[in-house]
Amino acid sequence: MTETSQPMIVIDNLVKRFGPFTAVGGVSFSVAKGEVLGFLGPNGAGKSTTMKMVTGYLAPTDGKISVCGHEVGIETLAAQREIGYLPEGAPAYVDMTPLEFLRFIADVRGLKGAEAKKAIDRAVARTEIGGVLEQTIDTLSKGFRRRVGLAQAILHDPAVLIMDEPTDGLDPNQKYAVRKLIEEMAPEKAIIISTHILEEVDAICSRALIIDRGAIVADGTPAELMARSRYHNAVTLVMPAAQADGAREALGALPGVAEIESVTRGEDVSFTVFQAGGAEGDTLLIDEVAQLARARNWTVRTLYREPGRLDEVFRRLTRSDTAKSEAA
Ligand SMILES: Nc1ncnc2c1ncn2[C@@H]1O[C@H](COP(=O)(O)OP(=O)(O)OP(=O)(O)O)[C@@H](O)[C@H]1O
Ligand SMILES: [Mg+2]
Repeated sequence: MTETSQPMIVIDNLVKRFGPFTAVGGVSFSVAKGEVLGFLGPNGAGKSTTMKMVTGYLAPTDGKISVCGHEVGIETLAAQREIGYLPEGAPAYVDMTPLEFLRFIADVRGLKGAEAKKAIDRAVARTEIGGVLEQTIDTLSKGFRRRVGLAQAILHDPAVLIMDEPTDGLDPNQKYAVRKLIEEMAPEKAIIISTHILEEVDAICSRALIIDRGAIVADGTPAELMARSRYHNAVTLVMPAAQADGAREALGALPGVAEIESVTRGEDVSFTVFQAGGAEGDTLLIDEVAQLARARNWTVRTLYREPGRLDEVFRRLTRSDTAKSEAA
């Protein structure tokens, strides 16, 4: 999609070791303007460590990072000027009010006078923290502290945004608001977010990387990742359990059906029908299932073709035990 535009973040063979332990084991990728890259992976996979290196807060053991043409570690300040960073957890300056904190950050970012005020007003409006500006940060709820962190990250309208679990701790309304905000900002920026919320990937990411024990194990659009699921193109039929006698056999007798899963929920039973050849098989299975349901006079509550399940792909690719791997 945005492959033609110049990458704004280029990461080449990035490595971080802590003593004998390899937290990030040679990761390479780039992010172009307009892309929202979702960084997925189990706890301890190396997401935050990678983000800290990209933002210049942690020195890599090996590898190269360039942000808007500036190499981190050589032109670190120039690179950092282009970056807005939301670290994991809460902002550090807990004794300040959000307004004092944002004024301080504006100063650090070299914004003065009317320009600083405009930047602060915009960030406050976008993160909806106007109601808590005069209260010290340590007295704010977790979600508001997170939003203050976000306001700080977007304050100077950076070209590159690196956000470590931006919606962590937010209520559903604020999660929605932050996703909208990311979508609005996306066309003009290169954005990396980490998240444990897989729906978020489908909702806002143009591309996702799954990392496991410091290595990239998948890289693709959300649709491409979902296509790797065993549920991709499987057909799910929900019908009243009372009518389901013989249904499993009838579904199983359809040509090309390899396997059937069923779950009973209350009065209904849900069948998921997998075709031989898996996700690559013929996609007309849904028509056959629909015809069968009509012929048998089943009451169809729901009938759909599965796009694939990201959680299943994630589990399969990251199921490796969580024991720390030794440096290669
Ligand atoms: N300063 C450090 N010293 C030693 N080990 C560290 C240090 N910082 C991180 N690690 C280890 O590196 C690994 C990767 O940690 P990291 O915080 O990057 O994981 P993560 O993918 O962000 O996980 P989470 O989803 O829990 O946030 C972990 O095993 C962690 O314990
Ligand atoms: Mg982390």
